[in-house]
Amino acid sequence: MRNDLLLRAALGEPTDRVPVWMMRQAGRVLPQYRKIRAGVKDFKEFLAHPELTAEATLQPVSEWDVDAAIIFSDILVIPEAMGFPFEMVENTGPIFTKKINTINDIKALNIVSDETFINPTLETIRLVKKEITGQLPLIGFCGAPWTIFAYMLEGKSGKDFSRARRFLLDEPEAAQLLLEKITQSSIYYLKQQIKNGADIIQIFDTWAGILGYSLFKQYSFPYLQKLFLAIAEMEVPIIIFLRGCPYGIRSLSLLPKAVIGLDWMQIPAEARALAGPNLTLQGNLDPSLLYASEERIRSETLSMLKDFGSLHTIANLGHGLYPDIDKEKARIFVDTVKSFRF
Ligand code: CP3
Repeated sequence: MRNDLLLRAALGEPTDRVPVWMMRQAGRVLPQYRKIRAGVKDFKEFLAHPELTAEATLQPVSEWDVDAAIIFSDILVIPEAMGFPFEMVENTGPIFTKKINTINDIKALNIVSDETFINPTLETIRLVKKEITGQLPLIGFCGAPWTIFAYMLEGKSGKDFSRARRFLLDEPEAAQLLLEKITQSSIYYLKQQIKNGADIIQIFDTWAGILGYSLFKQYSFPYLQKLFLAIAEMEVPIIIFLRGCPYGIRSLSLLPKAVIGLDWMQIPAEARALAGPNLTLQGNLDPSLLYASEERIRSETLSMLKDFGSLHTIANLGHGLYPDIDKEKARIFVDTVKSFRF
């Protein structure tokens, strides 16, 4: 592969420089995305057109020359494939059309075990691989079981997902059944992504941090671990991104060779101390710093890299790009990382 920096850094092998990509790099900050997106009715229709999602996947590579492409898809493909569909409402976010009240609603859901609903994602991977095989790694992804559970129980996006958290305590058996079904579905989904060409995986536990340590240990970590160990058998590196969950770092460092994705609330040197010197960490520039001046973006990026303090680092933002970030500011971040040497 012409540029395998991301894979080597993820495996803890030496690299000449720190690799860089950005969460949500494929999407609304790019006018070329907005242009192809305007040609279809809505986000879900866009996802149903692999020729469009493949193009959206490749746009950030042409725009910024990042060190990896991430498939354009969404973590909510899995609930939909389980028989729990959503609508993506403009300026609001996802709204699920069914509701989970009892264990019977959970028993009625499928474990994903065929390609019917996931085929557009797999076709996207196949199309993208035709363009970048031998060039750059392709990142596949899914949501963490807890994060998917939180959306399904809440029925929409939320701030504290209190209905989802209450369900863990009111209906622990039902909650475990749903988390198990999501985990099994995600194992199948990621294995198919890898078989079709994904070179590295990121699992998004965006809502890990709304669970305190006690509930995280009981309802997020065991399912993350199960998913991680099943996918690790396929011998691709796995990044687990946690948001707002400092206690999660120690738990994840128990997994063999997990790459830990940090949000911007973490101090890299503290995360490094928790994770130990050998694990690769990814992160974690505050995405809002991309509203700052060129000079400040450069200095903040450099100080972040120094704070990570070793080549066991993958540079990224601490969460996805915001839609109104100027693509030229994102370019300064990417170029600064590329020019840095430890
Ligand atoms: O470049 C990439 O990151 C690839 C594409 C990608 C999307 N969603 C496309 C998308 C990825 C990796 C995701 C993951 C995802 N989806 C997460 C985890 C990452 C994170 O941000 O924490 C989550 C929580 C979701 C669920 C989701 N999808 C929500 C809550 C929303 C609405 C809010 C929003 O950001 O707009 C989405 C919509 C979505 N997913 C859009 C895109 C480009 C915006 C819709 C559009 O462009 O029409």
